[in-house]
Amino acid sequence: MNTATLCNDRVLLNDWHVIADQVNLSSDKPFSTRLLGVDLSIHCRGRYKREVIRDDTGEEVKSINRYGFVWACLGKPWRDIVFVPEAEEGDRHLVTGGSIAVRVSGLRAVENFLDMGHFPFVHTGWLGDEPHTEVAPYKVEITDADELLATECQFYQPMASPTASDGFVVDYVYKVIRPYTVALYKSNPIQKHRLDVITLFVQPVDEENCVAHPFLCYLKDGIEEAGVRSFMQLIFAQDKPILENQVPRRLPLDPRAETPIRADAVAVLYRRWLRDKSVTYGAIPARM
Ligand SMILES: [Fe+2]
Repeated sequence: MNTATLCNDRVLLNDWHVIADQVNLSSDKPFSTRLLGVDLSIHCRGRYKREVIRDDTGEEVKSINRYGFVWACLGKPWRDIVFVPEAEEGDRHLVTGGSIAVRVSGLRAVENFLDMGHFPFVHTGWLGDEPHTEVAPYKVEITDADELLATECQFYQPMASPTASDGFVVDYVYKVIRPYTVALYKSNPIQKHRLDVITLFVQPVDEENCVAHPFLCYLKDGIEEAGVRSFMQLIFAQDKPILENQVPRRLPLDPRAETPIRADAVAVLYRRWLRDKSVTYGAIPARM
């Protein structure tokens, strides 16, 4: 029985969300998943035709294939799915990083993705290393496009990517595009003036469960697609237990709920931005 809380946030109901990696679908049997508390089945009819059906009402839900994923919208889509310009560039691997189910609110997963402070402790030897634990000040703002942008982020990383041979100070830009979608741009170790891009599409399964769907646009220079994928899976396997230990599982939006520190400037603004959008699904709303 579906005991999940249903979503009332129009900003989420009327948006597109990834509900599956296309590689996980088969025409033999329907693929079962859940979006915003609603159980869904994806039926593949032949090679290209697909239907996404609500299990509770039997109604068809709007769906699209893009970037290797199946997307669904439970309401009336107010806008197109997130555009990833780097996916149009021919010299990049476009890699879906595997769908990682995590027992935590998807908003927590986004916030964790924005947090450089955990690198030396969670991704030791890869994305960080002691004694390089300090997060240097960076800029954070809401753009005219109503996206949250963090720039001038720098962090020393011993093994920033599968092609890195030495540690170096990596430049990062983070962009929160939608409440459950966040992108990270980081300097490529070979073509240092260009950026590798990881977009994390987080599927809000219900308020306390999500599936993280990473989409990687990595320059092909010096690396195979399999290497990109396995690196991402290694990093995410390190994040999953940390995320699943977070208490509470939903993200508190009250500014007083979890004491902010300077390095959390982006997290503080993310929570405020969610409050301004009246996003409550997956959150513990601020007290009035
Ligand atoms: Fe992490």
